Amino acid sequence: MPTSKLRFDDRVVIVTGAGNGLGKSHALDFAKRGARVVVNDLGGTTAGGGRDTSVAQSVVDEIKAAGGDAVANGDSVEDGARIVEAAMDTFGRIDAVINNAGILRDSTFHKMSDEDWKLIQKVHLGGSYAVTRAAWPHMRAAGYGRVIMTASGAGIYGNFGQANYSAAKLGLHGMAQTLAIEGHSKGIQVNTIAPIAASRLTETVMPPAMLEGLKPELVTPLAILLSHEDSEETGQLFEIGGGWVSRLRWEQTQGARFDPKTGFSAENLSDSWDQVQSFEGAIHPKDISNTLKVVGEIIGVDLALAKQ
Ligand code: NAI
Repeated sequence: MPTSKLRFDDRVVIVTGAGNGLGKSHALDFAKRGARVVVNDLGGTTAGGGRDTSVAQSVVDEIKAAGGDAVANGDSVEDGARIVEAAMDTFGRIDAVINNAGILRDSTFHKMSDEDWKLIQKVHLGGSYAVTRAAWPHMRAAGYGRVIMTASGAGIYGNFGQANYSAAKLGLHGMAQTLAIEGHSKGIQVNTIAPIAASRLTETVMPPAMLEGLKPELVTPLAILLSHEDSEETGQLFEIGGGWVSRLRWEQTQGARFDPKTGFSAENLSDSWDQVQSFEGAIHPKDISNTLKVVGEIIGVDLALAKQ
């Protein structure tokens, strides 16, 4: 096996949805770097139907043929505890969870069925919750962990026909930001990536020339870097694809201020709308403390202290 700087010897990494596309690329690279990999994949269709355990097994076979170590798991991420159990039973520890499994049930909102809505929440949000929740106590006990959520530009920006998927995908980043706060004292770091890549999920919606340039392997370096023990990033959101890697952050305007005692009307707000909207002097809050500080100043209470 080639030696590389970012090694994962003695580390155990769960990659969900690792039978195809991005997850497969992540799993192969982790294994090349010495990680023992739990290759999870339900082996279903892109819409979430069916099941085929040979999908995960074929990636494990590829890893083993290249001299790596991996175990296949065919459970749905909805049964996250079973995936974590497989990791503990086989390898005895969990260092990183790459939440990647996913499906699509695209439909315009007015045609979306309850089932299309619920299934997407169950697999993306519920699945990432279930796997991470089951891994969390092991990571806390070890004082170490790395978790990645796989979001999407559809969640960050919205995308026609993907209300269900957008909600789940940005929900994942909301969860990641809170887990980054809760995991901090236990050495657990949680980040979100929003990839763009050629895969089963995108082959029908992207032209061939675009698919050619968007290899899943061009997303994997970020999953590797953020999962490494030397990484200090947590609570961050990145976009990546086709050889481009970028970080996103929140931007908050200075905003308009009103006297809370006298209150203010919609007309007052309309008069101050430019202040609400102007990004001149905007700040980039890293957490909720600026919001609490500003609101506290206006109402005359130290909300940061009041919260404790
Ligand atoms: P893919 O279809 O090639 O791979 C997803 C894998 O997840 C499949 O092998 C599938 O069998 C597995 N899977 C589905 N439901 C599962 C479940 N309940 N339990 C376990 N495994 C399950 O798709 P791709 O593109 O590699 O997607 C990976 C992730 O990246 C997904 O979360 C997707 O939403 C996300 N993503 C992909 C983008 C792209 O451009 N390809 C864009 C934005 C996000």
